[in-house]
Amino acid sequence: MQGQLMFAILFVTLCVETLAEDEFLYKQFTDPERDAFHYGKFQEDFAWGVATASYQIEGAWNEDGKGPSVWDTFAHTPGKTHLNQTADVTCDSYHKIAEDVKNLKELGVNHYRFSLSWSRIMPKGTPDEINPAGVQYYHDLIDALLAANIQPMVTLYHWDMPQVLMDIGGWENELMHALFVAYADFCFNEYGGKVTKWITFNEPTVFTVFGYEIGYHAPGKTHLGWGAYRAGHIVLKAHASAYHLYDKKYRASQNGVVGITLHARWYEPKTDTDADRAAAQRALTGELGWFAHPVFLTGDYPEVAKELIAAKSRAVGLTSSRFPEFTEEEKQMLKGSADFFGLNHYSTSYIENKVDASLIPNIMSDLDYKASEDDSWDRTGSWWLRPVPWGLRRTLKWIKKTYGDIPVYITENGMSENDGPVRLEDTDRVTYYRAYINEILKAQQIDGVNLKGYIAWTLMDNFEWAEGYNERFGLFHVDFNDPDRPRTARASAKAFAQIIKDNGFIKAKEKSEL
Ligand SMILES: *[C@@H]1O[C@H](CO)[C@@H](O)[C@H](O)[C@H]1NC(C)=O
Repeated sequence: MQGQLMFAILFVTLCVETLAEDEFLYKQFTDPERDAFHYGKFQEDFAWGVATASYQIEGAWNEDGKGPSVWDTFAHTPGKTHLNQTADVTCDSYHKIAEDVKNLKELGVNHYRFSLSWSRIMPKGTPDEINPAGVQYYHDLIDALLAANIQPMVTLYHWDMPQVLMDIGGWENELMHALFVAYADFCFNEYGGKVTKWITFNEPTVFTVFGYEIGYHAPGKTHLGWGAYRAGHIVLKAHASAYHLYDKKYRASQNGVVGITLHARWYEPKTDTDADRAAAQRALTGELGWFAHPVFLTGDYPEVAKELIAAKSRAVGLTSSRFPEFTEEEKQMLKGSADFFGLNHYSTSYIENKVDASLIPNIMSDLDYKASEDDSWDRTGSWWLRPVPWGLRRTLKWIKKTYGDIPVYITENGMSENDGPVRLEDTDRVTYYRAYINEILKAQQIDGVNLKGYIAWTLMDNFEWAEGYNERFGLFHVDFNDPDRPRTARASAKAFAQIIKDNGFIKAKEKSEL
């Protein structure tokens, strides 16, 4: 008995030891080959970074000449955000450049992805009135980053449109095309001597659907069935024109790259039936392809989306499709209008075929699919975010298969917890990062995806849009009750720093021999 018990204990200890290195494994997943840990390093010049967005971290919402943005207006409207919270102060990063850069150095990142607040630079949204203090703030941030050997990766539009431009219709007004190009021109000219990686737009599917169709985000429009398509159409043209402007006017002297960041979940067929498989393909093609096909493939929207939306429009007696059409000239301009694919990825859904003509039209019902989650997948602080690491590898493979060998940066990936007692030992987030980063290593080394970098979301807890401070995604915890907004590294910050230091995953044994 004793001996057997000893053996059992020893055996269990041994197993635990072996598992320790591979501790990221989600126990409920049952495909050992798919979920096996992969050791290896990324290329020498791999980009490691963290991301933030201006409205979510800067605060100083009306300081030094900044104009209001749609998010100021939206969050100041009672009933729009969790507990009516706003980002008036949030992390106060407007006053904390030195501290933020110190924390970036602690992580060991070589890139920092942040966004410019358009209304901080141009309070009226147009270049005839520039706010020098706002322009200087970003110079100071960029200079501090470069001094710390950290490359800036700058997003021009991360959702905080100047309110004055919303007053004329925002992305539903064709004028926005030219106004965005004028803003981009100013930014390329002003900062392009120091910034060589640009992202025009962050997640157009999200801000057009949430902002112009269901009203869950600023500007809170509920133009069901057409708001997102119309806004997205103008966004795409603005993107392409900004890309070509850079190409013609700045590339030769500044030698940078311009891309766009798209959000994609992995869509796994719910069952093995042909109908569900086709639905998952349709969902990926129609939803990610809504913005990706025009830029990375054909210059035009995916056929499946064009056909379905046109048919549904006809069926209710509309004389033209709710989905707008590009001219031939616009298609030529769109096709190939990005130097890299920025991918924001957080989670996976099951997709089933669902045709229901009675539904209020939106991108999901238009494409005849329904999404759901697996009860066995872990939960996080966000209802839409279940950790399913293999979904990221499949998304990357799908992008390679569909769009070819375009360079890809993961521009966001991470997980949330809800507001509550301070929790610095975030082992679940450590697990998430190890597992997801391991999947991109497999995508690169096994599947041959042209992966250039990985940018985590996010440096520190911040204002999570409509969810306010109730969803914390930070590698650093932020105390929002303290006027100094102190930041404290979580265990995940240390784990991420270690992965960066190793430039991938090295076996403990090999590490000890180094
Ligand atoms: C937020 O605003 C709504 C609408 O005015 C109000 O009903 C609600 O009580 C407010 N919530 C908080 C926490 O102040």
